[in-house]
This record gives sequence, structure tokens and C-alpha cells, in this order.
Amino acid sequence: MPGYTLRPLFSAQQIQKRVQEMGVQIAADYPDGSLHLVCILKGACFFLSDLARAIERDLVIDFMGISSYGRGQTSSGAVKLTKDLDLAVEGADLLLVEDIVDTGVTLTYLINVLQQRKPRSVRIAALLDKPDRRMRPVKVTYVGFQIPDEFVVGYGLDYAEQYRNLKDVCVLEGPQVA
Ligand code: IMP
Ligand code: MG
Repeated sequence: MPGYTLRPLFSAQQIQKRVQEMGVQIAADYPDGSLHLVCILKGACFFLSDLARAIERDLVIDFMGISSYGRGQTSSGAVKLTKDLDLAVEGADLLLVEDIVDTGVTLTYLINVLQQRKPRSVRIAALLDKPDRRMRPVKVTYVGFQIPDEFVVGYGLDYAEQYRNLKDVCVLEGPQVA
């Protein structure tokens, strides 16, 4: 987008290395049971596809659509479910696959919705974690990288729906980016 610059933060290679490590750890932590990877659309789509292939055990993949942000980068505060899961989750181990945990509002809402369906467990795997911005306490069991309070795009993460297809995760710098 004109007027914005991208500063690389994590290269595609660094991301791949970390995602492989996360996959090995997740496979070791779930020795039995029905594991459901729940991809939070749209930002987690590339993370999900790489992470799922790094977890060498049986699993199923499902998708949940949620929108908590408007066109830009400020939270609207409201969370809306735009697509529900296809599969039943009672008795299953749910691993929510998220691009980034920021305020924690989205995941707090989602976990409440999913707990009502009586899964065996619910955990979170997030590529990125911005702990400085947390408004709701959320336990993120698997974190790719912790980052400072900067706005990042790429590898699924967007600004106004742009930049999701960048191979690297980059800090977006520009006129409206605080
Ligand atoms: P939360 O409810 O504030 O934790 O919202 C998390 C969601 O906000 C993420 O799934 C992203 O879609 C979006 N988000 C938060 N920080 C960033 C960022 O730095 N870049 C792009 N999207 C972000
Ligand atoms: Mg998201």
C-alpha cells in the first residue's frame, strides 16, 4: 500500500524452523485422544497449514471464523462469529491455532463458546504473542515468538486485508500506524 514501509521481523526460514519445533512439542504433549486443530480464520491459515504438517500424529482440522477488528488495526471491542466449526468436539482435545494474541478478547470469547461443548481440553497455539497489550488473561500454551507492541503483517496477518501473502512477518510502518 502506498505510503507504508515493511521492516522484516521474522524471515520465512526462521518461521519454518520455529513452527517445526512447535509441531514436535505438540505431538509429544498429546500422546493419545482425538486432536482437533481449530484454525481461526483468516490470519492463521498459513500457520495452520505448516503447523498441521509438523505434527506427526493423527489429527483433524476445522475452521472457525471470527472478526474482532474493523478494516484497520484498532479493535472494535466486539467479537462476531462468522463461521462455526463443522465437527462435534465433545471429548476431543482442541488446539486453537491463532496468528497473534493481542488483547486476548477474541480468544477469551472463543474459549467460552467452545467450553460449553464439553471438549476434553482446550489449548492455544499462537504464532505470535504481544503480552504488553493484554486486557484479558489468556494462557497461551504454545507460542512461536513474543513480540513488542508493534503492528505486524505477513504470513497470514493483514492490515485492511492486505499483506497476508508476504513470506516474512514484517513490522508495518506508515502514516496511521502508531
Ligand atoms: P485480540 O482479541 O486483541 O487478541 O485480537 C487478536 C486478533 O487481532 C488477531 O487474531 C489478529 O487478527 C488481530 N491483530 C492483533 N494484532 C495484530 C497485528 O499486529 N497485526 C495484524 N493483526 C493483528
Ligand atoms: Mg486473527
